[in-house]
Amino acid sequence: MRLQRIGLILILGVAVLIGCGGGEEAREAAAPEPEPMAEDHSMHEMLTASASLQSREGFSVSGSVAFEQMESDGPVTITASIQGAPVGSRGLHIHEVGDCSAEDFTSAGGHFNPAGVPHGGPADSERHAGDLGNIEIGEDGSGTLELTSDLITLVAGEPTSVLGRGVILHEGTDDLMSQPTGAAGGRIACGVITAG
Ligand code: CU
Ligand code: ZN
Repeated sequence: MRLQRIGLILILGVAVLIGCGGGEEAREAAAPEPEPMAEDHSMHEMLTASASLQSREGFSVSGSVAFEQMESDGPVTITASIQGAPVGSRGLHIHEVGDCSAEDFTSAGGHFNPAGVPHGGPADSERHAGDLGNIEIGEDGSGTLELTSDLITLVAGEPTSVLGRGVILHEGTDDLMSQPTGAAGGRIACGVITAG
């Protein structure tokens, strides 16, 4: 009688263990389900990036440049908003390196130019991907610029991706012709383009 009861307890114990195992399997099987939904959602999610500008010593420039891309193979809308800059047309470019560590911001390298073409203006068919032209700074030291580019992307890892690159505001005016920089003068503000 006692042996039979021990036997029954063992059988029940094994049954409980199997039951638990089965439950875990069921949960594991259910877990991956949301994944296709998340993937599908990201396809329609707008890609965004931004750069916050820091001023060169001796200037008091501030501002930001926002990037938006509706589709991963679509154009990128660029919106710059700048304060505390000298009045007039000031050259604005995406530079190759997102490094603002040098006092004169030369650490940001040259214009972002993945296609290896000459410098130009934003309306030229042949231009650096980083050529954003000039931003008009008013009497109050502020200005905004909005333009659309099909030469850059916010998709990480692509050759034309601007993520991790630099934005430079120049002291002078980009003449949209002179090689290789548009003769825009010194660099007075710098920012690093980061996703989000
Ligand atoms: Cu520049
Ligand atoms: Zn250029």
